[in-house]
Amino acid sequence: MEETLNIIFTKNHPLPDDVKAKVVSILYTLIASYIDVKGQILEAHWNSEGKTFISMHKLFDDTLTKIDEFIDPLGERIRAFGAPARAKLKFASDNTLLKEQTYITNDLDANLNVVLYCLITLRDYLYIVIPQVSKMDETTSNILQEHCRDIDHLIYLNQSCVCSCTD
Ligand SMILES: [Fe+2]
Repeated sequence: MEETLNIIFTKNHPLPDDVKAKVVSILYTLIASYIDVKGQILEAHWNSEGKTFISMHKLFDDTLTKIDEFIDPLGERIRAFGAPARAKLKFASDNTLLKEQTYITNDLDANLNVVLYCLITLRDYLYIVIPQVSKMDETTSNILQEHCRDIDHLIYLNQSCVCSCTD
């Protein structure tokens, strides 16, 4: 969803409309992807079983909480521009960055890889769009930089749990 959107901006925000449209397009993609990722991590949180269940259940829960916190400031930023904020499930599934939904089983390591795939997809997108956004809107760029830093940390935490043992 990176094309320039045809939006009527209903608030008197000083950024030019074409700039706001580009930023809102990126924020829509992120909101859709965060909502999609929440569902995938929730399934990993519920379905995983194994010897490290308790610690992984908690880590997936902490990851979920953090992703959830990312969504509201993006919707509010969109509204600060006077554009419509979107968050319905159909919107999320139509605009998510994630490819076809990954299959969650009770295999904890497989589910950990799904969570990592989700986080890395988000992080890689943020690394692409942050330099673009920072040229257009420093305030939104600051929000996205916080997300990127937090997701990098979540990747570190989840990657550190990948089992390298052979038993
Ligand atoms: Fe839970």
